[in-house]
Amino acid sequence: QWTPGQIIEDAVARIRRQVGREHVILGLSGGVDSSVAASLIHRAIGDQLTCVFVNNGLLRLGEPEQVLATFAENMGVKVVYVDAEDRFLKALKGVADPERKRKIIGNLFVDIFEEEATKLPDARWLAQGTIYPDVIESAGAKTGKAHTIKSHHNVGGLPDYMKLKLLEPLRELFKDEVRAIGEELGLPHQMVWRHPFPGPGLGVRILGEVKKEYADILRRADAIYIEELYKSGHYDKISQAFAVFLPVKSVGVMGDGRTYEYVIALRAVETRDFMTASWYPMPYEDLARISNRIINEVKGVNRVTYDISSKPPATIEWE
Ligand code: XMP
Repeated sequence: QWTPGQIIEDAVARIRRQVGREHVILGLSGGVDSSVAASLIHRAIGDQLTCVFVNNGLLRLGEPEQVLATFAENMGVKVVYVDAEDRFLKALKGVADPERKRKIIGNLFVDIFEEEATKLPDARWLAQGTIYPDVIESAGAKTGKAHTIKSHHNVGGLPDYMKLKLLEPLRELFKDEVRAIGEELGLPHQMVWRHPFPGPGLGVRILGEVKKEYADILRRADAIYIEELYKSGHYDKISQAFAVFLPVKSVGVMGDGRTYEYVIALRAVETRDFMTASWYPMPYEDLARISNRIINEVKGVNRVTYDISSKPPATIEWE
């Protein structure tokens, strides 16, 4: 049984041996895996690493700022920030089908990453936060939605014309080991213990067509929900929690006026493997507080519902 410190030491030595004096690029998503990979590689080779962080407009409230603060400001990692919100929203305009949205988001992400990579002609390596379960999964049958994306920008390799070698320092590690070394490397607790966030982000949590107005509403509702889960101590007992934007309007009343606004659904599940999941029995008083805050603080929402469906037959995400 290796300690996190030993795993780090071993990985650092191996990265140095592999890479030598060459340069590495890494697509940083802000998720646990790419974050741990970035800090590990930075520990090994410092300035020879450049991270590319793409803001696709489908991230959570404050997420781009947090990622830049953690990596660029605090750790001194070179991060190229790409604001691609308009490009993603334009590409998604008029598209309602979940799988088409996933494809568009995945493809555009790859395009943008490649554009940035060609601006770094010294790079010889592409680093990825592939972990052991990803390796297993993509070797198996290609079922399930997560694969479509993961085969895109996690394990699928590279187009021939990008002659980069793959650097995957987490390839032999399980999630709990990745988290342990993330903590040892000094990443913020909240980053290391974050619930998983799908590659397409809010793109699959806004049902149907994605619009900036919807994303802005969802971001604010989701931030309140997650903040309340942290405060009440539920967050660490839940495997995954998030808000979903429903593009339907319902009637409400506020003061002496009638309102006609959108609906937010709250999801929280417990699961070991994300293949099956049960809905989290959230206490009524917590639901009441969260609902009140969202309706009072998020303009455009007058109704909040709690999802009591388990997987199967429902999935964790709504799309
Ligand atoms: P479902 O909704 O299939 O989700 O029950 C199971 C787990 O997979 C995540 N998920 C995705 N992750 N790209 C990803 O990277 C995707 O397209 C995708 N779809 C679902 C989901 O958040 C949950 O953790």
